[in-house]
Amino acid sequence: MKKWTVAVVGATGLVGRKMLDVLTERNFPVGRLVPIASANSAGQTAHFHGEEIPVQVISEDVFNGVDIALFSAGGSVSKTYAPIAARAGAVVVDNSSAWRMDPDVPLVVPEVNPAALENHNGIIANPNCSTIQMVVALQSLHEKYRIRRIVVSTYQSVSGSGKKAMQQLADEISGDTVADPAYPHPIAYNCLPHIDVFFEDGYSREEHKMIFETRKIMGDDNIQVSPTTVRVPVSAGHSEAINLEFENPFELDEVRSLLANAPGVVLQDDPHNNIYPMPLEAADKDAVFVGRLRRDPSITNGLNLWVVSDNLRKGAATNTVQIAEVLIEKNALVLTD
Ligand SMILES: NC(=O)c1ccc[n+]([C@@H]2O[C@H](COP(=O)([O-])OP(=O)(O)OC[C@H]3O[C@@H](n4cnc5c(N)ncnc54)[C@H](OP(=O)(O)O)[C@@H]3O)[C@@H](O)[C@H]2O)c1
Repeated sequence: MKKWTVAVVGATGLVGRKMLDVLTERNFPVGRLVPIASANSAGQTAHFHGEEIPVQVISEDVFNGVDIALFSAGGSVSKTYAPIAARAGAVVVDNSSAWRMDPDVPLVVPEVNPAALENHNGIIANPNCSTIQMVVALQSLHEKYRIRRIVVSTYQSVSGSGKKAMQQLADEISGDTVADPAYPHPIAYNCLPHIDVFFEDGYSREEHKMIFETRKIMGDDNIQVSPTTVRVPVSAGHSEAINLEFENPFELDEVRSLLANAPGVVLQDDPHNNIYPMPLEAADKDAVFVGRLRRDPSITNGLNLWVVSDNLRKGAATNTVQIAEVLIEKNALVLTD
């Protein structure tokens, strides 16, 4: 079996470290690992397959000989270095929002639009975490009943904002001073209806991502999306209350059976026995958990559901590694030597 030289950019961050776990667990054919981070991590090592591998400080030369570069070091790092890595011969899978809406860059969730990987120019974008879990849950329903409108409210975990935010939550819970807060308000015992910056239309960038990325991944510009995104004091796992309006009528039993067989979905829908998705149970799992299925009596062809997934796994690291696996399957990775 061929083995690949794999770079992980942001290898000391929450997503990057999870990528190393996922590459190991899935036995991804890594011949050589190149962990990369900022100058702050000079001298550190990354733990991979029982070895401690020195972290390299990012530079233009660090991508020489790399076949696949998994980026999770923020938008500005991706904007600068993803084209450099691609020019050096690597295929980049980028977790930041830098390239997602570029018409020449595929935005991919393997359970939904793997065919988009057949046409790439060296950079592939991994979608936003809240969008990934939503489209995995909705794709089979869209194929069968055609979604007209999605109203979604999110309950997003603190790990979605990186290691600084996890530190803020831990410090606030233990009563310690927060040296360098990630949020403009306390997050412990609080909810912040504020994820990323706000635009003139009153929506946040996270809400815009849910609108535009959903349409791009599902390949349907007619889907209307009305999002409200909220940060909650949960460590891992985003939850979403989703209301759907379909073009076509549906039966709840058929919806259950579609979801039970949908790739990447685990149905947990037995509320009378207290069975429904929860972030504590979804943490460190790769699936998208769906439950609380109910007809919406206030509209024709309306459905309510509750969707939970680990943002660091399916929302980031797992989806990225799955993209790399599909690239290998489709012969869409070229060895640099
Ligand atoms: N957290 C999530 O659920 C999630 C989900 C989807 C996508 N993402 C995206 O993934 C990216 C990373 O998120 P995270 O949660 O892992 O953040 P994080 O825990 O704060 O880690 C950031 C990583 O990026 C590295 N980095 C920062 N500035 C850099 C620079 N100038 N050059 C090289 N490396 C640099 C850091 O290295 P040092 O340790 O050396 O500073 C660290 O490894 C972001 O773009 C985020 O939007 C996150």
